[in-house]
Amino acid sequence: MARERISFFCSSCGHETGKWLGRCPGCGGWNTFQEAPVKTKGARTSSAAAEHPPEPLIGATFTEERRLPTHSTEMDRVLGGGIVPGSVILLGGDPGIGKSTLLLQLAAAVGEQSGIVLYVSGEESRQQVQMRAQRLGICGDRLFFSSEADLGRLRNALETVKPALAIIDSIQTMSHPDLQVPPGSIGQLRECTAELVRLAKFQNFSCFLIGHVTKDGSLAGPRVLEHMVDTVLSFEGERHQNFRLLRAVKNRFGATNEIAVFTMGEAGLAEVANPSALFLDGRAADIPGSVVVAALEGTRPVLVEVQALVCPTVFGSPRRATTGVDYNRVVLTAAVLEKRVGLNLANQDIYVSVVGGLKVIEPAVDLGVALALASNFRNIPVDAGTVALGEIGLTGEVRACGQVEQRLREAVRLGFRRFVIPERNIEIRERYPDLELIGVKTVREALDRSL
Ligand code: TYD
Ligand code: MG
Repeated sequence: MARERISFFCSSCGHETGKWLGRCPGCGGWNTFQEAPVKTKGARTSSAAAEHPPEPLIGATFTEERRLPTHSTEMDRVLGGGIVPGSVILLGGDPGIGKSTLLLQLAAAVGEQSGIVLYVSGEESRQQVQMRAQRLGICGDRLFFSSEADLGRLRNALETVKPALAIIDSIQTMSHPDLQVPPGSIGQLRECTAELVRLAKFQNFSCFLIGHVTKDGSLAGPRVLEHMVDTVLSFEGERHQNFRLLRAVKNRFGATNEIAVFTMGEAGLAEVANPSALFLDGRAADIPGSVVVAALEGTRPVLVEVQALVCPTVFGSPRRATTGVDYNRVVLTAAVLEKRVGLNLANQDIYVSVVGGLKVIEPAVDLGVALALASNFRNIPVDAGTVALGEIGLTGEVRACGQVEQRLREAVRLGFRRFVIPERNIEIRERYPDLELIGVKTVREALDRSL
């Protein structure tokens, strides 16, 4: 029997010690240490080494395996072109956001086209999953279900069923037979994930793990979980809106920050091929304080409307509140407008939001925010067919931004013709003679040309 030693892990940063500590030296969190008996590594590692002797990296026969298509172009793009066989993908998201729905739909599609899929649910009963499958109109005999929460027995099931894809809903409900601690604890999460990663590589099936998130939105369990898997996806959305964003936070097989947009309806999740149109839907033209920006989400440009409201502070110190944009960048932009342009915002409350619930944290949206603020403050609308782009520096200069042409093309597709862009990017003008491209060096110049 393996000798056990007790170790402790910080539940927020994964710091490991031999004794319990009140405060984590890694992240400074209080009372975050949890106990986890860890098996001393023995036979498993040594035999694994013997099975796979080292071989030359270059020159050895190499065939890239065909990725499993998910039959959703949106999902495929986020994954970098389908599911890589043998890879492990962690999907995190708030409760009730639609993780189980998303993966059940994906399971059905993969089952139909690419092989057997095993859906393991420790959260819901067979009846509940059956009811959901019925609601989603899923049929087919290659989708298998198991409610096995014991990893030892699940291992046997995986050997028998030999799935192309396994879905674990959720990793917090799995328990490793060698550990005495309850499911969901740090030790269990680490050991179960490690074991599933090993099985997936060894038996060459792909594996989705559903993970819960904590109150602050990070995946429950130490970050070590994110290091162990190949891809981390996060499923986001506002509870009172029906669209959902799937974002690749980490991807060993594709670009990160790639997003897919879905809407949640009666028959489950449907992909949105044209998110810009969705985000700009219902936009009222010629209202002071509204500007369209072209943000880059991964490799894809998405057009969103930035709205600003500036009104005199009635009581106390002025408020600044933001939704969907970086708070600090808005404060900085307001300070630049105050000092470099001379707008008197110091006694004004400022509210900035991105319509539709998308979060755009790119600096390239700065100029859009500045224009929206100034437009609302001066009560002059910015021309509704204008898109603004550019990062703002502390001296009030407008800095160049990347992939301008890509953003431009997306905006042109949606009917925009007028662009306020950094002077440094203006060389693209000759390729777009029929568009109105305005190059600006400073924020002041951008305001002069737009308001
Ligand atoms: P679910 O996939 O159970 O979320 P999670 O696994 O992330 O906790 O989705 C739950 C929500 O989705 C629930 O509030 C009902 C809603 N829903 C629909 O609106 N339409 C549907 O077709 C389905 C299956 C769920
Ligand atoms: Mg669920």
